[in-house]
Amino acid sequence: MSDWWKKSVVYQIYPQSFNDSNNDGIGDIQGIIEKLPYLEELGVDVLWLNPIYVSPLVDNGYDIADYYKINPDYGTLDDFKELLEKAHEKKIRIIMDLVVNHTSDQNQWFLESKKGKDNKYSDFYIWRNPKADGSEPNNWGSTFGGSAWTYVPERKQYYLHLFAKEQPDLNWENEQVRQTVYEMMRYWLDLGIDGFRMDVISLISKRPGLPDAPKDLPYSKNYYFGASNGPRVHEFLQEMNQEVLSKYDCLTVGETANTTSDQAVLYTDPDRHELSMVFQFDHMHLDYGEHGKFSNVRFKMSDLRNVMTEWEDKLENHGWNSLYWSNHDQPRGTTRFGDDGMYRVESAKMLGTLLHMMKGTPYVFEGEELGMKDVPFKSLTDYRDIESLNMIKELESDGLSQEEIRKIMYLRSRDNARTPMPWDDGYGFSEAEPWIAYSSDNENINVNQALNDPESVFWYYKKLIQLRKTHDVIIDGKYEVLNQDDSCVYNYKRQNNDEQLLVICSFSPEPVRFTIPDEFFDQEILISNYHRKPCHGTIILKPYEAIVISKKNS
Ligand code: NOJ
Repeated sequence: MSDWWKKSVVYQIYPQSFNDSNNDGIGDIQGIIEKLPYLEELGVDVLWLNPIYVSPLVDNGYDIADYYKINPDYGTLDDFKELLEKAHEKKIRIIMDLVVNHTSDQNQWFLESKKGKDNKYSDFYIWRNPKADGSEPNNWGSTFGGSAWTYVPERKQYYLHLFAKEQPDLNWENEQVRQTVYEMMRYWLDLGIDGFRMDVISLISKRPGLPDAPKDLPYSKNYYFGASNGPRVHEFLQEMNQEVLSKYDCLTVGETANTTSDQAVLYTDPDRHELSMVFQFDHMHLDYGEHGKFSNVRFKMSDLRNVMTEWEDKLENHGWNSLYWSNHDQPRGTTRFGDDGMYRVESAKMLGTLLHMMKGTPYVFEGEELGMKDVPFKSLTDYRDIESLNMIKELESDGLSQEEIRKIMYLRSRDNARTPMPWDDGYGFSEAEPWIAYSSDNENINVNQALNDPESVFWYYKKLIQLRKTHDVIIDGKYEVLNQDDSCVYNYKRQNNDEQLLVICSFSPEPVRFTIPDEFFDQEILISNYHRKPCHGTIILKPYEAIVISKKNS
């Protein structure tokens, strides 16, 4: 077994929105196959596909009705096999989403389970009796609003769902559930996939007794108290590793909500045989405010630097980081952490530099390599995502004006990441009306434009990805943050026996001064977003300038 995933860059594909080959308005697997040459040109090593299984799509595929079947909207199993084969021919690996904290309520397991207490699937989910007054078994809220419990008259019981009521939680305490999941994982791995991204895997073990959460926690996430990093989560993952993962040369990345860097070590320390890496959320929480994620708050660069540094330091010897700015649940990184107006291109390149030079495996979310920004939908009726739709209602009932809500949705809705990928003229995703509206920015920000412009974010990302292949220090060098008092420039060093890198990233829209450390005077510039030449002394960084300087140890 090798740890090829440490050297890889992963590209995330949101299949519904990537490329529609049969012109029904929904992206599909043949659409991905068509675009393999594009992905090869970018140079990515692994594709992570969001769920493509049969699903009623209440939560866009994170509600799986049949783990063994491909959603016909996306194609057939043969299409998927063809994708695997053609990607592998190009040395591109494929990982799938593994969603096993919960299923769809249309899954056969749940349909059986809800019928009664004495069938094979009765104990597959988390059922509890009502309290004496008929109310819910505990006070947990669910992520998409309302209680985490729904009552089923046939069983005269409630079932637990940490997400929508159509997403009942599986009962991992039940050995049979675990074995059923492992069998399904083997099926896909035997088919040739190269690993899994594991949806909310930190939530699979619930605290015994499902205790009430303290009253002061935000209702929609108070279940973290009894469900995140629960008492058996590591035991379950070690079992999964022993029974399945250790038999395959695969990448595993756990989505670990509510997990600290100390806890992440437990998930990713190779000696513990659990996961390759986890997705952390600390940097995603820096701009939360009064309405949690749905607040109009800007992050502070010093907080970002502290968080990223904490994770780099903690996992230095005992684990591995995954690195990301954006995914299908987050707004676009350029809007959130950069400047999506005048310096969109410069700041997108700067953010790419900061992330790709860190220690860990970088993830690129589709469109990030174009510097896509959040979507200026004209109307709130353009939103499709269950979370956004529920939130719009909640903010309306909190008395916010339509204008305020529009601004917040622009900054935070998951749909910012889910609009169709802008191909040729910006609308080349499909000849049909897409399932979700295009971004009106597509005319200026699209693949065709990017490929024809040598200064585009695309070519810069390609170079960042290539550097990883030619400079081992990017993979194994120790990370050291520098100048921690600087409020505009995020500056760090990477170092192994052969080489040192100095990474300089300005978060300022104004020019700022920066003093190069002596040992990097006039050394080679590996990459920079303003074509900077070797330099020394104090320099003036341009808006959102990024520079990587290399010094070979002689
Ligand atoms: C995390 C996924 O990324 C998100 O899209 C989904 O809504 C929840 N987990 C529930 O599966």
